[in-house]
Amino acid sequence: MAREGLIAGIDVGTTKVATIVGRTDGAGVQVVGVGVAPSNGLRKGVVVNLDETVRSLRDSVRLAERSSGLRVREANVGITGTHIQSLNNKGLVAVSHRDKPVNANDVQRVLESARSIAVPQDKQMLHLIPRGYTVDGHRGITEPVGMHGFRLDVEAHIILGEVRPIENLVKCVQSVGVEVRSLVLEPLATAEATLTTDEREMGVILADIGGGTTDVAIFRDGGVCHTAVLPVGGNLLSNDISVGLHCPLNAAEELKIKWGVADPEMIKAHDDIVLPSFGAEQTRKVSRVDLAEIINARISELMEMLDTEVQRAGCQGLLSAGLVISGGTANLPGIEAVAADVLKMPVRVGEPRGVQGLADTVGNPAFATGVGLLLWNVQPEGDKETRMINHWSHSGSAWERLARRARWRLKELVRR
Ligand SMILES: Nc1ncnc2c1ncn2[C@@H]1O[C@H](COP(=O)(O)OP(=O)(O)OP(=O)(O)O)[C@@H](O)[C@H]1O
Ligand SMILES: [Mg+2]
Repeated sequence: MAREGLIAGIDVGTTKVATIVGRTDGAGVQVVGVGVAPSNGLRKGVVVNLDETVRSLRDSVRLAERSSGLRVREANVGITGTHIQSLNNKGLVAVSHRDKPVNANDVQRVLESARSIAVPQDKQMLHLIPRGYTVDGHRGITEPVGMHGFRLDVEAHIILGEVRPIENLVKCVQSVGVEVRSLVLEPLATAEATLTTDEREMGVILADIGGGTTDVAIFRDGGVCHTAVLPVGGNLLSNDISVGLHCPLNAAEELKIKWGVADPEMIKAHDDIVLPSFGAEQTRKVSRVDLAEIINARISELMEMLDTEVQRAGCQGLLSAGLVISGGTANLPGIEAVAADVLKMPVRVGEPRGVQGLADTVGNPAFATGVGLLLWNVQPEGDKETRMINHWSHSGSAWERLARRARWRLKELVRR
């Protein structure tokens, strides 16, 4: 059953903070308010200035409250940054009663077993995601409860983050009067809003190219098998343009958005743009081909980095659904062609879906993470605690609390 009532997602990005408020009636999710404020307190996805971040958060939350006429008391919040680390681990237990099927307690124990890794003191676990269960050697089971067997194995994807950046982000959100319901790794949230079940089954790489980071998640056989956060985003493109065309950063950003394309072949020769004057300099013309070549170089490099992630995940040739791009930079014309050329796979831009209302506002790929946060744990298949346990806590007992919730949900499943 989907949760009913009011829900909210807050995407604290490097360039913007987006708060999306929704209402769910069990059948679908209706967006009822959006608040977007410029973000000045983050660098590459991580809070570096608490006061600035709180200011941006407050503006964004207030705007969303004003547009929805509702008070935002709790929200799912996204987390990213290069401090995020991911790994795969296995768990194994003997089924507790030989003559009875696998029960919720066995699943809980096997997840505990997969979770038992040495977490460094400065890190904490954000997610433990079961990728598939094996009962007595029969692999690929998504729901082992009720099956007969002696031995239960699980393969899990684990996501860790550094304690400090996590605490700073949570502190900022709480200081604007909002409780963090779930802290969600951003590419996982983005996947909720952009990927289809078929794509996850066939194998797909998702890249959310924001301002400061590119958040990556790779899915195979329906589950996530690799996540990464790359310190490259649209801000670096603007930086390159500023250096390459000798203009201030704000002019470079404007040029990129108004005239930039990722594929120089889209531009006719002698297509020039007049660069506004700055400082003592007169207005001057710059070539759109030059602009496109600067963008192309960085986007091609980024696609090569994505290729490296595919190799790291051991997924070469296995992602038949190809690449899905989201984030503000996905708006660059020609980015799909450049990506397809480097990665040799199908590419599409992932506009957020799965919600009704305010589609013109949140329909842009820049809102994929925010919409995914809104959708987190509300969709019908969103009894996600059975397949994904969020370990974030600001108190030491959160694992127990979340495990209790997971057990409760599992009990419900067993009863059905
Ligand atoms: N039409 C466009 N063409 C090219 N780039 C664009 C366009 N619109 C937005 N961008 C770029 O997208 C980036 C912002 O994307 P987004 O809003 O997804 O980032 P963010 O979530 O704030 O940052 P991050 O996810 O990295 O923390 C900026 O670099 C911006 O210049
Ligand atoms: Mg983002």
